[in-house]
Amino acid sequence: DRERIEALVAGARAARERAYAPYSGFQVGAAVLTDDGRTFTGANVENASYGLSMCAERTAMFHAAAEGARRLVAVAVAASNDEPTWPCGACRQVLYEFGRDVAVVSQGLGGRREDRRLTDLLPDAFGPDDLA
Ligand code: THU
Repeated sequence: DRERIEALVAGARAARERAYAPYSGFQVGAAVLTDDGRTFTGANVENASYGLSMCAERTAMFHAAAEGARRLVAVAVAASNDEPTWPCGACRQVLYEFGRDVAVVSQGLGGRREDRRLTDLLPDAFGPDDLA
């Protein structure tokens, strides 16, 4: 519902403040809502060996999974752009592992917010069901 999404966006914005992005200077925060009502946050964490850097969305999702969550309901992203930005391809795949019907909301620094469905961001996805 609306209040939960509001809280999720606030969580993503707060997480963005904790980004470790000294190389790109591009701070991103993310928050995920799981079916048990819990929320988990993450920020991008870069590395001097650039390719080892990790996105905010995967940090948040791995945080949730490592705490036992298995079903993803919604994701909020707050990046450093004025306009909303969407999770990278790798993050879309990782998110899909934990939910087919996931709401993705992104808010830019300018304040404008947009919504997508994960299946629109990643059509014809390969997922757990394909291995069944
Ligand atoms: N990044 C994210 O954390 N999430 C995105 O959706 C896009 C990119 C990070 C990775 C890297 O630390 C920085 O932003 C620039 O690509």
